[in-house]
Amino acid sequence: MSVQTIEWRDGAVVMLDQLRLPHEVVYQTYRDYRDVADAIRRMVIRGAPAIGIAAAMGIALGASQKEFGSYADLAKEVHVICEAMAKTRPTAVNLFWAIDRVKALLASLEGESVVTVQERLIQEGKTILEEDIAINRRIGEHGAQFVKDGDTILTHCNAGALATGGWGTATAVMRVAQEQGKKIHVLADETRPYLQGARLTVWELMQDNISVDLITDNMAGHFIKQGEVDLCIVGTDRTAANGDVANKIGTYMVALAAHANDVPFYVAAPTSSVDLSLASGDQIPIEERSAHEVIHIRDQGIAPANASARHAAFDVTPARYVTAIITENGVASPPYPFTLAPLVRKS
Ligand code: MRU
Repeated sequence: MSVQTIEWRDGAVVMLDQLRLPHEVVYQTYRDYRDVADAIRRMVIRGAPAIGIAAAMGIALGASQKEFGSYADLAKEVHVICEAMAKTRPTAVNLFWAIDRVKALLASLEGESVVTVQERLIQEGKTILEEDIAINRRIGEHGAQFVKDGDTILTHCNAGALATGGWGTATAVMRVAQEQGKKIHVLADETRPYLQGARLTVWELMQDNISVDLITDNMAGHFIKQGEVDLCIVGTDRTAANGDVANKIGTYMVALAAHANDVPFYVAAPTSSVDLSLASGDQIPIEERSAHEVIHIRDQGIAPANASARHAAFDVTPARYVTAIITENGVASPPYPFTLAPLVRKS
């Protein structure tokens, strides 16, 4: 089993503090939904599916952290909490998917006692977590066919257990391939500016005895061109109906290099990361974070302190550079407008 990112324990949300990895493994306990929202915003927990799980559990926490006189009072509060969660981060659609799922459950429970609704919301958070782990395992099983014995896989950011309830999406493919007895090696992009690759992916793969070399982002094109990469696998924060893929900043450059060198570029995506309401990736909201995170690495300045900087946190890779999208319900190949929606509707 992979590292545990989040769980519901004794009426509270417990999360691994990803800001302190890889140097310290510290689990924090959250008893107030506002602190869960803040943890999502500050990226204590991050990665699209993990953000969705944290939001669902945060809503359950807020719904049970005080007393309510009636279903109506509780429902009103849940909607306030949902709004707070929705404001945390804009790109990962799993956040909004989880909020909508909780709201639908709440509506279906109208007329039930406050205690029943509270219990059901807590159960929903736990169910989303359990389902996510099973979904990732299935992504791994569908994706392992693309990995051959001896392959080197390049990945970007962290689409691992730390970004999900467990197993990861891109890393599930690696885990299943390794379970099948295939020898694999991973090149992990460091993923500036937040260093999810260096801090999280390398740490996670080392925990699981998956062979990995850390590379800086600007080495990816070189190793791909040298023929040292057999395939790329990344995750996604939101994939549009036409197969355009939003993922961590820098993914687009990896996809371009892969395309130019005939290296397959796969996206591992739970169907909860596919947003069929958006026709193309142009409509995906791209988070811009603080310039401080570019000018500094962990509060250590690396540029003039008063430098001006931009910080786009995600980019969109056009569908034409994506070899296939691996979901828990099967693999979508181009043309995505015809192949992706049926897989999503199976869920
Ligand atoms: O800013 P982050 O760390 O939340 O971004 C995470 C990513 O871009 C991941 O690749 C994506 O969420 C897929 S995780 C299975």
